[in-house]
Amino acid sequence: MTTNSGLRSRQWFGATGRAGMGHRSWMRSQGFTPEVFDGRPVIGIATTWSELAPCNVHLHRVAESVKRGVWQAGGFPLEFPAMALGETLLRPTAMLYRNLLAMEAEELMRANPLDGVVLLSGCDKTTPGLLMAAASVDLPAVMVTGGPMLSGKYQGTDVGSGTAVWRFEEDLVAGRMTQEECAFAEGCMARSNGHCMTMGTASTMASMAEALGMQLPYSATWPAVDARRYETAQRAGQVIVGLVQQDLRPSAVMTRAAFENAIRVNAAIGGSTNAVIHLLAIAGRLGVPLTLDDFDVLARDVPTLVNLQPSGKYLMEDFCYAGGLPAVIRELDEAGLLHSGALTVTGAGIGANVAGAPCWNREVIQTVADPFQPAGTGTAVLRGNLAPDGAVIKQSASSPHLLKHRGRALVFDSPTDYYAVSNDPELDVDEDTVLVIRYCGPRGYPGMPEVSNVALPKKLLLRGVRDMVRICDGRMSGTAYGTVVLHVAPEAAAGGPLALVRTGDWITLDVPGRRLTLEVADDELARRRAGWQPPAPPASRGWTRLYTERVLQADAGADLDFLVGASGHEVPRDSH
Ligand code: FES
Repeated sequence: MTTNSGLRSRQWFGATGRAGMGHRSWMRSQGFTPEVFDGRPVIGIATTWSELAPCNVHLHRVAESVKRGVWQAGGFPLEFPAMALGETLLRPTAMLYRNLLAMEAEELMRANPLDGVVLLSGCDKTTPGLLMAAASVDLPAVMVTGGPMLSGKYQGTDVGSGTAVWRFEEDLVAGRMTQEECAFAEGCMARSNGHCMTMGTASTMASMAEALGMQLPYSATWPAVDARRYETAQRAGQVIVGLVQQDLRPSAVMTRAAFENAIRVNAAIGGSTNAVIHLLAIAGRLGVPLTLDDFDVLARDVPTLVNLQPSGKYLMEDFCYAGGLPAVIRELDEAGLLHSGALTVTGAGIGANVAGAPCWNREVIQTVADPFQPAGTGTAVLRGNLAPDGAVIKQSASSPHLLKHRGRALVFDSPTDYYAVSNDPELDVDEDTVLVIRYCGPRGYPGMPEVSNVALPKKLLLRGVRDMVRICDGRMSGTAYGTVVLHVAPEAAAGGPLALVRTGDWITLDVPGRRLTLEVADDELARRRAGWQPPAPPASRGWTRLYTERVLQADAGADLDFLVGASGHEVPRDSH
Protein backbone atom coordinates (compact mmCIF):
# COMPACT_ATOMS: atom_id res chain seq x y z
CA MET A 1 0.00 0.00 0.00
CA THR A 2 1.34 3.40 -0.94
CA THR A 3 1.25 6.42 1.30
CA ASN A 4 2.46 8.68 -1.46
CA SER A 5 1.14 12.06 -0.44
CA GLY A 6 1.78 13.24 -4.00
CA LEU A 7 -1.26 11.35 -5.24
CA ARG A 8 -3.83 13.74 -6.65
CA SER A 9 -6.63 11.87 -4.84
CA ARG A 10 -5.15 13.22 -1.57
CA GLN A 11 -6.40 16.66 -2.59
CA TRP A 12 -9.87 15.25 -2.01
CA PHE A 13 -9.66 12.40 0.49
CA GLY A 14 -6.66 13.70 2.45
CA ALA A 15 -8.16 17.13 2.97
CA THR A 16 -9.01 18.40 6.43
CA GLY A 17 -12.06 20.39 7.47
CA ARG A 18 -15.41 20.63 5.75
CA ALA A 19 -14.17 19.80 2.25
CA GLY A 20 -12.42 16.56 3.24
CA MET A 21 -15.34 15.58 5.43
CA GLY A 22 -17.71 15.98 2.51
CA HIS A 23 -15.54 14.04 0.10
CA ARG A 24 -15.15 11.10 2.52
CA SER A 25 -18.56 11.06 4.14
CA TRP A 26 -20.60 10.72 0.98
CA MET A 27 -18.27 7.98 -0.29
CA ARG A 28 -18.84 6.10 2.97
CA SER A 29 -22.54 5.95 2.12
CA GLN A 30 -21.49 3.06 -0.15
CA GLY A 31 -20.26 1.12 2.87
CA PHE A 32 -16.52 1.60 2.44
CA THR A 33 -14.44 1.40 5.61
CA PRO A 34 -12.33 4.49 6.41
CA GLU A 35 -9.10 2.70 5.45
CA VAL A 36 -9.85 3.38 1.77
CA PHE A 37 -8.87 6.99 2.43
CA ASP A 38 -5.47 6.15 3.89
CA GLY A 39 -3.51 7.36 0.90
CA ARG A 40 -3.76 4.36 -1.39
CA PRO A 41 -4.11 5.03 -5.14
CA VAL A 42 -7.67 5.62 -6.25
CA ILE A 43 -8.30 3.82 -9.51
CA GLY A 44 -11.18 4.77 -11.76
CA ILE A 45 -12.66 2.04 -13.91
CA ALA A 46 -14.28 3.70 -16.91
CA THR A 47 -16.86 1.30 -18.27
CA THR A 48 -18.78 1.64 -21.49
CA TRP A 49 -21.28 -0.97 -20.34
CA SER A 50 -24.82 -0.64 -21.68
CA GLU A 51 -27.64 -2.88 -22.81
CA LEU A 52 -27.82 -0.55 -25.80
CA ALA A 53 -24.25 -1.53 -26.68
CA PRO A 54 -24.56 -5.32 -26.81
CA CYS A 55 -20.87 -5.81 -27.60
CA ASN A 56 -20.05 -4.23 -24.20
CA VAL A 57 -22.84 -5.72 -22.12
CA HIS A 58 -20.52 -7.96 -20.09
CA LEU A 59 -18.13 -5.16 -19.10
CA HIS A 60 -19.68 -4.81 -15.65
CA ARG A 61 -18.39 -8.35 -14.97
CA VAL A 62 -15.00 -7.48 -16.42
CA ALA A 63 -14.99 -4.49 -14.05
CA GLU A 64 -15.46 -6.83 -11.07
CA SER A 65 -12.28 -8.67 -12.07
CA VAL A 66 -10.40 -5.40 -12.43
CA LYS A 67 -11.56 -4.39 -8.95
CA ARG A 68 -10.22 -7.63 -7.48
CA GLY A 69 -6.82 -6.83 -8.92
CA VAL A 70 -6.86 -3.25 -7.69
CA TRP A 71 -7.77 -4.34 -4.14
CA GLN A 72 -5.08 -7.05 -4.27
CA ALA A 73 -2.44 -4.48 -5.16
CA GLY A 74 -3.51 -2.07 -2.44
CA GLY A 75 -5.57 0.37 -4.49
CA PHE A 76 -9.12 1.66 -4.11
CA PRO A 77 -11.21 0.91 -7.23
CA LEU A 78 -14.20 3.00 -8.26
CA GLU A 79 -16.21 2.11 -11.35
CA PHE A 80 -17.89 4.85 -13.34
CA PRO A 81 -19.89 4.87 -16.57
CA ALA A 82 -18.66 6.46 -19.75
CA MET A 83 -20.88 6.90 -22.76
CA ALA A 84 -21.56 3.54 -24.38
CA LEU A 85 -21.58 3.59 -28.17
CA GLY A 86 -23.37 0.66 -29.75
CA GLU A 87 -22.31 0.41 -33.36
CA THR A 88 -25.39 -1.46 -34.49
CA LEU A 89 -28.06 0.78 -32.99
CA LEU A 90 -26.86 4.38 -32.88
CA ARG A 91 -28.12 6.66 -35.64
CA PRO A 92 -26.98 8.27 -37.80
CA THR A 93 -23.69 6.58 -36.80
CA ALA A 94 -21.78 5.78 -33.62
CA MET A 95 -18.87 7.73 -35.10
CA LEU A 96 -20.83 10.96 -34.60
CA TYR A 97 -20.42 10.33 -30.87
CA ARG A 98 -16.83 9.05 -30.60
CA ASN A 99 -15.57 12.53 -29.82
CA LEU A 100 -18.40 13.08 -27.34
CA LEU A 101 -17.38 9.93 -25.45
CA ALA A 102 -13.78 11.11 -25.56
CA MET A 103 -14.76 14.52 -24.22
CA GLU A 104 -17.07 13.10 -21.52
CA ALA A 105 -14.53 10.52 -20.32
CA GLU A 106 -11.74 13.11 -20.35
CA GLU A 107 -13.70 15.47 -18.13
CA LEU A 108 -14.79 12.69 -15.75
CA MET A 109 -11.22 11.47 -15.33
CA ARG A 110 -9.92 14.96 -14.70
CA ALA A 111 -12.70 16.23 -12.45
CA ASN A 112 -12.75 13.22 -10.09
CA PRO A 113 -10.24 12.17 -7.40
CA LEU A 114 -8.52 9.56 -9.55
CA ASP A 115 -4.86 8.61 -9.64
CA GLY A 116 -5.13 6.15 -12.48
CA VAL A 117 -7.75 4.63 -14.77
CA VAL A 118 -8.64 1.30 -16.30
CA LEU A 119 -10.46 1.71 -19.58
CA LEU A 120 -13.13 -0.87 -20.41
CA SER A 121 -14.21 -0.86 -24.03
CA GLY A 122 -15.19 -3.21 -26.81
CA CYS A 123 -17.46 -1.98 -29.57
CA ASP A 124 -15.74 -0.04 -32.34
CA LYS A 125 -15.78 3.56 -31.14
CA THR A 126 -15.43 2.91 -27.42
CA THR A 127 -11.78 1.84 -27.67
CA PRO A 128 -10.51 4.92 -29.55
CA GLY A 129 -12.84 7.23 -27.60
CA LEU A 130 -11.40 6.12 -24.26
CA LEU A 131 -7.82 6.16 -25.52
CA MET A 132 -8.31 9.73 -26.80
CA ALA A 133 -9.61 10.74 -23.37
CA ALA A 134 -6.79 9.03 -21.49
CA ALA A 135 -4.27 10.66 -23.81
CA SER A 136 -5.63 14.14 -23.11
CA VAL A 137 -5.77 13.64 -19.32
CA ASP A 138 -2.48 11.73 -19.16
CA LEU A 139 -3.12 9.91 -15.91
CA PRO A 140 -1.66 6.39 -15.70
CA ALA A 141 -4.02 4.14 -17.68
CA VAL A 142 -4.49 0.54 -18.77
CA MET A 143 -7.05 -0.63 -21.27
CA VAL A 144 -9.00 -3.87 -21.05
CA THR A 145 -11.12 -4.55 -24.10
CA GLY A 146 -14.08 -6.87 -23.75
CA GLY A 147 -12.91 -9.49 -26.20
CA PRO A 148 -14.49 -10.98 -29.29
CA MET A 149 -17.58 -13.18 -29.45
CA LEU A 150 -17.24 -16.88 -30.05
CA SER A 151 -17.26 -17.84 -33.73
CA GLY A 152 -20.66 -17.78 -35.40
CA LYS A 153 -21.96 -21.15 -36.60
CA TYR A 154 -24.47 -21.47 -39.43
CA GLN A 155 -25.32 -24.60 -41.39
CA GLY A 156 -22.10 -26.29 -40.39
CA THR A 157 -19.82 -23.39 -41.28
CA ASP A 158 -18.22 -20.56 -39.35
CA VAL A 159 -19.80 -17.18 -40.00
CA GLY A 160 -18.26 -13.88 -39.03
CA SER A 161 -20.29 -11.09 -37.50
CA GLY A 162 -20.60 -8.21 -39.88
CA THR A 163 -18.81 -9.90 -42.74
CA ALA A 164 -21.56 -12.51 -43.09
CA VAL A 165 -24.25 -9.82 -43.04
CA TRP A 166 -22.94 -8.30 -46.26
CA ARG A 167 -22.84 -11.73 -47.90
CA PHE A 168 -26.29 -12.73 -46.61
CA GLU A 169 -27.73 -9.50 -48.00
CA GLU A 170 -26.22 -10.14 -51.43
CA ASP A 171 -27.42 -13.75 -51.35
CA LEU A 172 -30.91 -12.58 -50.40
CA VAL A 173 -31.06 -10.04 -53.24
CA ALA A 174 -29.68 -12.59 -55.70
CA GLY A 175 -32.17 -15.25 -54.54
CA ARG A 176 -29.56 -17.58 -53.08
CA MET A 177 -31.05 -17.25 -49.57
CA THR A 178 -34.61 -16.93 -48.28
CA GLN A 179 -35.85 -14.43 -45.75
CA GLU A 180 -36.45 -17.30 -43.31
CA GLU A 181 -32.87 -18.52 -43.69
CA CYS A 182 -31.61 -14.99 -43.04
CA ALA A 183 -33.72 -14.71 -39.88
CA PHE A 184 -32.33 -18.03 -38.62
CA ALA A 185 -28.78 -16.96 -39.47
CA GLU A 186 -29.17 -13.82 -37.34
CA GLY A 187 -29.26 -15.97 -34.21
CA CYS A 188 -26.28 -18.07 -35.31
CA MET A 189 -23.96 -15.18 -35.98
CA ALA A 190 -23.90 -13.41 -32.63
CA ARG A 191 -24.12 -16.17 -30.02
CA SER A 192 -22.10 -14.96 -27.05
CA ASN A 193 -21.01 -11.83 -25.25
CA GLY A 194 -18.28 -9.89 -26.99
CA HIS A 195 -17.58 -7.67 -29.94
CA CYS A 196 -17.51 -8.64 -33.61
CA MET A 197 -15.22 -11.62 -34.06
CA THR A 198 -13.93 -10.87 -37.52
CA MET A 199 -10.92 -8.60 -37.93
CA GLY A 200 -13.38 -5.71 -37.99
CA THR A 201 -12.87 -2.40 -36.30
CA ALA A 202 -13.43 -3.65 -32.74
CA SER A 203 -10.87 -6.45 -33.07
CA THR A 204 -8.56 -4.09 -34.91
CA MET A 205 -8.75 -1.38 -32.27
CA ALA A 206 -8.30 -3.90 -29.47
CA SER A 207 -5.17 -5.05 -31.30
CA MET A 208 -4.09 -1.43 -31.76
CA ALA A 209 -4.44 -0.85 -28.01
CA GLU A 210 -2.19 -3.85 -27.39
CA ALA A 211 0.29 -2.83 -30.10
CA LEU A 212 0.42 0.70 -28.70
CA GLY A 213 1.37 -0.86 -25.37
CA MET A 214 -1.82 0.23 -23.60
CA GLN A 215 -3.21 -3.21 -22.81
CA LEU A 216 -1.61 -6.37 -21.51
CA PRO A 217 -0.32 -9.07 -23.89
CA TYR A 218 -3.10 -11.37 -25.16
CA SER A 219 -5.75 -8.91 -23.97
CA ALA A 220 -6.99 -8.23 -27.50
CA THR A 221 -7.63 -11.83 -28.42
CA TRP A 222 -9.05 -13.78 -25.47
CA PRO A 223 -12.72 -14.43 -26.33
CA ALA A 224 -15.15 -12.42 -24.22
CA VAL A 225 -16.35 -15.53 -22.42
CA ASP A 226 -12.90 -17.05 -21.82
CA ALA A 227 -11.84 -17.21 -18.17
CA ARG A 228 -8.46 -15.85 -19.19
CA ARG A 229 -10.08 -12.55 -20.19
CA TYR A 230 -11.16 -12.17 -16.59
CA GLU A 231 -7.73 -13.24 -15.39
CA THR A 232 -6.18 -10.59 -17.63
CA ALA A 233 -8.64 -8.01 -16.29
CA GLN A 234 -7.65 -8.87 -12.72
CA ARG A 235 -3.99 -8.56 -13.71
CA ALA A 236 -4.73 -5.16 -15.25
CA GLY A 237 -6.14 -4.09 -11.89
CA GLN A 238 -2.86 -5.02 -10.25
CA VAL A 239 -0.82 -3.37 -12.98
CA ILE A 240 -2.57 0.01 -12.81
CA VAL A 241 -1.69 0.40 -9.14
CA GLY A 242 1.96 -0.14 -10.03
CA LEU A 243 1.73 2.35 -12.89
CA VAL A 244 0.42 4.98 -10.50
CA GLN A 245 3.27 4.30 -8.10
CA GLN A 246 5.75 4.67 -10.98
CA ASP A 247 3.82 7.59 -12.48
CA LEU A 248 4.00 5.87 -15.87
CA ARG A 249 1.54 7.71 -18.09
CA PRO A 250 0.03 7.25 -21.56
CA SER A 251 2.32 9.93 -22.98
CA ALA A 252 5.32 7.73 -22.08
CA VAL A 253 3.72 4.70 -23.71
CA MET A 254 1.98 6.08 -26.79
CA THR A 255 5.04 7.57 -28.45
CA ARG A 256 5.79 7.94 -32.13
CA ALA A 257 7.54 4.53 -31.96
CA ALA A 258 4.40 2.97 -30.49
CA PHE A 259 2.24 4.41 -33.27
CA GLU A 260 4.65 3.11 -35.88
CA ASN A 261 4.38 -0.31 -34.24
CA ALA A 262 0.60 -0.10 -34.27
CA ILE A 263 0.50 0.83 -37.97
CA ARG A 264 2.72 -2.13 -38.81
CA VAL A 265 0.71 -4.51 -36.65
CA ASN A 266 -2.43 -3.24 -38.36
CA ALA A 267 -0.94 -4.20 -41.72
CA ALA A 268 0.07 -7.63 -40.40
CA ILE A 269 -3.39 -8.44 -39.09
CA GLY A 270 -5.26 -7.11 -42.14
CA GLY A 271 -6.90 -4.57 -39.84
CA SER A 272 -9.70 -2.13 -40.47
CA THR A 273 -9.31 1.12 -42.39
CA ASN A 274 -11.00 2.77 -39.43
CA ALA A 275 -7.76 2.35 -37.50
CA VAL A 276 -6.30 5.08 -39.72
CA ILE A 277 -8.78 7.67 -38.50
CA HIS A 278 -8.68 6.57 -34.87
CA LEU A 279 -4.89 6.40 -34.58
CA LEU A 280 -4.59 9.86 -36.16
CA ALA A 281 -7.06 11.19 -33.59
CA ILE A 282 -5.29 9.56 -30.63
CA ALA A 283 -1.90 10.80 -31.83
CA GLY A 284 -3.37 14.29 -32.16
CA ARG A 285 -4.29 14.25 -28.47
CA LEU A 286 -0.67 13.45 -27.55
CA GLY A 287 1.05 15.82 -29.92
CA VAL A 288 2.66 12.85 -31.67
CA PRO A 289 3.32 13.83 -35.29
CA LEU A 290 1.48 11.31 -37.45
CA THR A 291 0.15 11.76 -40.97
CA LEU A 292 -2.01 9.82 -43.38
CA ASP A 293 1.02 9.08 -45.51
CA ASP A 294 2.73 7.35 -42.58
CA PHE A 295 0.17 4.57 -42.91
CA ASP A 296 1.16 3.88 -46.49
CA VAL A 297 4.90 4.25 -46.04
CA LEU A 298 5.13 2.17 -42.85
CA ALA A 299 2.82 -0.60 -44.07
CA ARG A 300 4.44 -1.10 -47.46
CA ASP A 301 7.06 -3.56 -46.26
CA VAL A 302 4.74 -5.46 -43.91
CA PRO A 303 3.02 -8.60 -45.20
CA THR A 304 -0.36 -9.69 -43.92
CA LEU A 305 0.27 -12.63 -41.59
CA VAL A 306 -3.19 -13.32 -40.24
CA ASN A 307 -5.76 -15.18 -42.30
CA LEU A 308 -8.90 -13.66 -40.82
CA GLN A 309 -12.18 -12.45 -42.26
CA PRO A 310 -12.94 -10.11 -43.98
CA SER A 311 -9.65 -10.44 -45.90
CA GLY A 312 -9.29 -14.17 -45.18
CA LYS A 313 -11.01 -17.20 -43.76
CA TYR A 314 -10.75 -17.52 -39.98
CA LEU A 315 -12.19 -15.71 -36.96
CA MET A 316 -10.87 -14.20 -33.73
CA GLU A 317 -11.43 -17.39 -31.75
CA ASP A 318 -9.13 -19.21 -34.18
CA PHE A 319 -6.65 -16.35 -33.91
CA CYS A 320 -6.63 -16.66 -30.13
CA TYR A 321 -6.07 -20.43 -30.15
CA ALA A 322 -3.33 -20.01 -32.79
CA GLY A 323 -1.33 -17.81 -30.44
CA GLY A 324 -3.10 -14.46 -30.51
CA LEU A 325 -1.62 -11.07 -31.19
CA PRO A 326 1.69 -11.74 -29.34
CA ALA A 327 2.57 -14.38 -31.94
CA VAL A 328 2.13 -11.78 -34.70
CA ILE A 329 4.06 -9.11 -32.83
CA ARG A 330 6.89 -11.57 -32.24
CA GLU A 331 7.02 -12.39 -35.97
CA LEU A 332 7.31 -8.69 -36.81
CA ASP A 333 9.87 -8.10 -34.11
CA GLU A 334 12.08 -10.95 -35.27
CA ALA A 335 11.88 -9.57 -38.82
CA GLY A 336 13.10 -6.20 -37.61
CA LEU A 337 9.77 -4.54 -38.37
CA LEU A 338 9.09 -3.21 -34.87
CA HIS A 339 10.50 -0.78 -32.37
CA SER A 340 11.16 -3.57 -29.91
CA GLY A 341 11.96 -1.32 -26.99
CA ALA A 342 8.75 0.73 -27.12
CA LEU A 343 7.53 0.87 -23.53
CA THR A 344 4.25 -0.82 -22.58
CA VAL A 345 2.03 -0.88 -19.51
CA THR A 346 3.85 -4.02 -18.34
CA GLY A 347 6.84 -1.75 -17.73
CA ALA A 348 8.79 -3.68 -20.35
CA GLY A 349 9.33 -3.12 -24.06
CA ILE A 350 6.88 -4.64 -26.50
CA GLY A 351 9.53 -7.01 -27.84
CA ALA A 352 10.32 -8.35 -24.39
CA ASN A 353 6.61 -8.89 -23.75
CA VAL A 354 6.26 -11.28 -26.67
CA ALA A 355 9.66 -12.97 -26.72
CA GLY A 356 8.98 -16.67 -27.15
CA ALA A 357 5.27 -16.18 -27.82
CA PRO A 358 4.31 -19.42 -29.59
CA CYS A 359 2.24 -19.98 -32.71
CA TRP A 360 0.12 -23.11 -32.67
CA ASN A 361 -1.50 -22.90 -36.09
CA ARG A 362 0.37 -21.67 -39.15
CA GLU A 363 -2.78 -21.64 -41.27
CA VAL A 364 -4.15 -18.84 -39.13
CA ILE A 365 -0.95 -16.96 -38.31
CA GLN A 366 1.60 -17.22 -41.08
CA THR A 367 5.19 -16.07 -41.09
CA VAL A 368 6.96 -13.07 -42.59
CA ALA A 369 8.84 -15.49 -44.86
CA ASP A 370 5.65 -17.23 -45.98
CA PRO A 371 2.86 -14.69 -45.38
CA PHE A 372 -0.86 -14.89 -46.01
CA GLN A 373 -0.58 -11.91 -48.34
CA PRO A 374 2.64 -10.29 -49.53
CA ALA A 375 3.98 -6.99 -48.31
CA GLY A 376 2.35 -3.97 -49.87
CA THR A 377 -1.20 -5.32 -49.94
CA GLY A 378 -2.44 -3.47 -46.86
CA THR A 379 -4.22 -0.15 -46.69
CA ALA A 380 -3.02 2.21 -49.40
CA VAL A 381 -3.27 5.99 -49.34
CA LEU A 382 -4.42 7.55 -52.62
CA ARG A 383 -4.11 11.10 -53.80
CA GLY A 384 -5.10 12.98 -56.92
CA ASN A 385 -7.44 15.71 -58.08
CA LEU A 386 -10.40 13.79 -56.65
CA ALA A 387 -8.82 13.47 -53.21
CA PRO A 388 -6.26 16.27 -52.71
CA ASP A 389 -6.01 15.52 -48.99
CA GLY A 390 -6.06 11.79 -49.45
CA ALA A 391 -8.27 8.72 -49.49
CA VAL A 392 -7.67 5.13 -48.45
CA ILE A 393 -8.39 1.69 -49.87
CA LYS A 394 -8.00 -1.67 -48.18
CA GLN A 395 -6.22 -3.67 -50.83
CA SER A 396 -6.58 -7.01 -49.08
CA ALA A 397 -10.38 -6.65 -49.09
CA SER A 398 -10.46 -5.51 -52.73
CA SER A 399 -10.61 -7.49 -55.96
CA PRO A 400 -7.13 -7.57 -57.50
CA HIS A 401 -8.46 -7.01 -61.04
CA LEU A 402 -10.05 -3.71 -59.96
CA LEU A 403 -7.01 -2.14 -58.35
CA LYS A 404 -6.19 -0.55 -61.70
CA HIS A 405 -9.45 0.55 -63.22
CA ARG A 406 -10.99 3.21 -65.46
CA GLY A 407 -14.73 3.68 -65.59
CA ARG A 408 -17.57 6.14 -65.92
CA ALA A 409 -18.99 7.64 -62.78
CA LEU A 410 -22.54 7.02 -61.64
CA VAL A 411 -23.10 9.63 -58.94
CA PHE A 412 -25.45 9.71 -55.95
CA ASP A 413 -25.70 12.39 -53.27
CA SER A 414 -26.57 9.85 -50.58
CA PRO A 415 -26.80 6.10 -50.06
CA THR A 416 -30.57 6.59 -49.82
CA ASP A 417 -30.67 8.04 -53.34
CA TYR A 418 -28.67 5.07 -54.57
CA TYR A 419 -30.78 2.42 -52.86
CA ALA A 420 -33.92 4.02 -54.29
CA VAL A 421 -32.82 2.82 -57.74
CA SER A 422 -30.31 0.03 -57.06
CA ASN A 423 -32.82 -2.73 -57.80
CA ASP A 424 -34.04 -1.09 -61.01
CA PRO A 425 -33.31 -3.43 -63.94
CA GLU A 426 -33.08 -0.37 -66.20
CA LEU A 427 -30.34 1.29 -64.13
CA ASP A 428 -27.58 2.40 -66.50
CA VAL A 429 -24.74 0.51 -64.85
CA ASP A 430 -22.31 -2.26 -65.66
CA GLU A 431 -19.35 -3.86 -63.91
CA ASP A 432 -17.00 -1.15 -65.22
CA THR A 433 -19.06 1.69 -63.73
CA VAL A 434 -17.57 3.59 -60.80
CA LEU A 435 -20.24 4.22 -58.19
CA VAL A 436 -19.74 7.56 -56.42
CA ILE A 437 -21.61 7.98 -53.15
CA ARG A 438 -21.01 11.39 -51.56
CA TYR A 439 -22.04 13.74 -48.74
CA CYS A 440 -21.20 10.93 -46.31
CA GLY A 441 -18.23 12.60 -44.61
CA PRO A 442 -17.88 13.93 -41.06
CA ARG A 443 -19.86 17.09 -41.79
CA GLY A 444 -22.04 15.80 -44.56
CA TYR A 445 -23.94 12.82 -43.19
CA PRO A 446 -23.08 13.85 -40.40
CA GLY A 447 -20.57 11.68 -38.53
CA MET A 448 -18.93 9.81 -41.42
CA PRO A 449 -20.93 6.57 -41.25
CA GLU A 450 -19.99 3.13 -42.55
CA VAL A 451 -22.07 3.35 -45.70
CA SER A 452 -19.41 3.45 -48.40
CA ASN A 453 -19.59 -0.20 -49.44
CA VAL A 454 -23.09 0.06 -50.87
CA ALA A 455 -24.48 -3.25 -52.11
CA LEU A 456 -24.05 -3.83 -55.82
CA PRO A 457 -26.96 -3.05 -58.16
CA LYS A 458 -29.33 -6.01 -58.35
CA LYS A 459 -28.94 -6.44 -62.10
CA LEU A 460 -25.19 -6.97 -61.61
CA LEU A 461 -25.65 -9.34 -58.67
CA LEU A 462 -28.05 -11.44 -60.76
CA ARG A 463 -25.36 -11.64 -63.43
CA GLY A 464 -22.90 -12.95 -60.84
CA VAL A 465 -20.86 -9.75 -60.47
CA ARG A 466 -19.50 -9.66 -56.88
CA ASP A 467 -17.48 -6.45 -56.83
CA MET A 468 -17.16 -3.06 -58.51
CA VAL A 469 -15.30 0.17 -57.74
CA ARG A 470 -17.04 2.46 -55.29
CA ILE A 471 -15.78 5.87 -54.11
CA CYS A 472 -17.09 7.64 -51.03
CA ASP A 473 -16.21 10.24 -48.42
CA GLY A 474 -17.62 8.01 -45.71
CA ARG A 475 -16.17 4.97 -43.99
CA MET A 476 -16.61 1.22 -44.37
CA SER A 477 -17.16 -1.26 -41.59
CA GLY A 478 -14.00 -3.12 -40.73
CA THR A 479 -15.97 -6.30 -41.28
CA ALA A 480 -16.78 -5.37 -44.87
CA TYR A 481 -15.03 -6.07 -48.14
CA GLY A 482 -14.97 -4.79 -51.70
CA THR A 483 -13.00 -2.41 -53.89
CA VAL A 484 -14.09 0.72 -52.09
CA VAL A 485 -12.16 4.00 -51.96
CA LEU A 486 -12.90 5.54 -48.58
CA HIS A 487 -12.35 8.67 -46.48
CA VAL A 488 -12.06 10.95 -49.52
CA ALA A 489 -10.81 14.29 -48.22
CA PRO A 490 -11.91 16.98 -48.32
CA GLU A 491 -15.42 15.56 -48.19
CA ALA A 492 -18.12 16.76 -50.58
CA ALA A 493 -19.93 18.75 -47.89
CA ALA A 494 -16.73 20.70 -47.23
CA GLY A 495 -16.43 21.55 -50.91
CA GLY A 496 -14.04 18.76 -51.88
CA PRO A 497 -13.76 17.89 -55.57
CA LEU A 498 -15.96 14.85 -54.94
CA ALA A 499 -18.85 17.33 -54.93
CA LEU A 500 -18.05 18.29 -58.53
CA VAL A 501 -18.19 14.84 -60.14
CA ARG A 502 -21.02 14.26 -62.60
CA THR A 503 -22.48 11.04 -63.89
CA GLY A 504 -20.61 10.06 -67.03
CA ASP A 505 -17.25 11.57 -65.99
CA TRP A 506 -14.30 9.22 -66.37
CA ILE A 507 -12.45 8.24 -63.22
CA THR A 508 -9.16 6.37 -63.02
CA LEU A 509 -8.20 4.35 -59.97
CA ASP A 510 -4.54 3.38 -59.88
CA VAL A 511 -3.80 1.77 -56.54
CA PRO A 512 -0.24 0.66 -57.43
CA GLY A 513 0.48 4.27 -58.46
CA ARG A 514 -1.51 5.57 -55.46
CA ARG A 515 -3.58 7.85 -57.70
CA LEU A 516 -7.27 8.70 -57.90
CA THR A 517 -8.02 10.91 -60.88
CA LEU A 518 -11.14 12.62 -62.13
CA GLU A 519 -10.60 13.08 -65.85
CA VAL A 520 -12.14 16.50 -66.08
CA ALA A 521 -10.16 19.60 -67.04
CA ASP A 522 -9.33 22.13 -64.35
CA ASP A 523 -11.26 24.94 -66.06
CA GLU A 524 -14.38 22.79 -66.25
CA LEU A 525 -14.00 21.90 -62.56
CA ALA A 526 -13.66 25.61 -61.77
CA ARG A 527 -16.91 26.29 -63.66
CA ARG A 528 -18.67 23.55 -61.72
CA ARG A 529 -17.29 24.86 -58.45
CA ALA A 530 -18.65 28.32 -59.16
CA GLY A 531 -22.13 26.82 -59.34
CA TRP A 532 -21.80 24.58 -56.29
CA GLN A 533 -23.81 25.32 -53.18
CA PRO A 534 -22.85 23.78 -49.83
CA PRO A 535 -25.62 21.72 -48.25
CA ALA A 536 -27.64 23.18 -45.39
CA PRO A 537 -26.21 22.38 -41.93
CA PRO A 538 -27.77 19.17 -40.62
CA ALA A 539 -28.60 20.63 -37.19
CA SER A 540 -29.26 24.05 -35.68
CA ARG A 541 -28.54 23.08 -32.05
CA GLY A 542 -27.00 20.53 -29.71
CA TRP A 543 -24.10 18.17 -30.16
CA THR A 544 -24.62 17.70 -33.90
CA ARG A 545 -24.30 21.44 -34.47
CA LEU A 546 -21.12 21.64 -32.39
CA TYR A 547 -19.75 18.55 -34.15
CA THR A 548 -20.41 19.71 -37.69
CA GLU A 549 -19.04 23.19 -37.01
CA ARG A 550 -15.79 21.98 -35.46
CA VAL A 551 -15.01 18.51 -36.83
CA LEU A 552 -11.77 18.00 -38.72
CA GLN A 553 -11.55 16.05 -41.93
CA ALA A 554 -10.73 12.34 -42.13
CA ASP A 555 -7.05 12.91 -42.90
CA ALA A 556 -6.75 14.65 -39.50
CA GLY A 557 -8.60 11.95 -37.56
CA ALA A 558 -12.05 13.61 -37.54
CA ASP A 559 -11.51 14.92 -34.01
CA LEU A 560 -13.00 18.26 -33.03
CA ASP A 561 -10.49 21.02 -33.65
CA PHE A 562 -10.61 22.26 -30.04
CA LEU A 563 -10.09 18.77 -28.60
CA VAL A 564 -6.75 18.20 -30.30
CA GLY A 565 -3.98 18.19 -27.71
CA ALA A 566 -4.01 17.67 -23.97
CA SER A 567 -5.26 19.56 -20.93
CA GLY A 568 -3.57 17.31 -18.38
CA HIS A 569 -5.08 16.40 -15.03
CA GLU A 570 -4.59 19.43 -12.83
CA VAL A 571 -7.75 20.90 -11.29
CA PRO A 572 -6.62 23.37 -8.64
CA ARG A 573 -10.00 24.70 -7.49
CA ASP A 574 -12.30 23.01 -4.97
CA SER A 575 -16.03 22.62 -5.51
CA HIS A 576 -17.51 24.04 -2.33
FE1 FES B 1 -19.94 -3.79 -31.77
FE2 FES B 1 -19.17 -4.89 -34.18
S1 FES B 1 -21.08 -4.05 -33.61
S2 FES B 1 -18.05 -4.58 -32.40
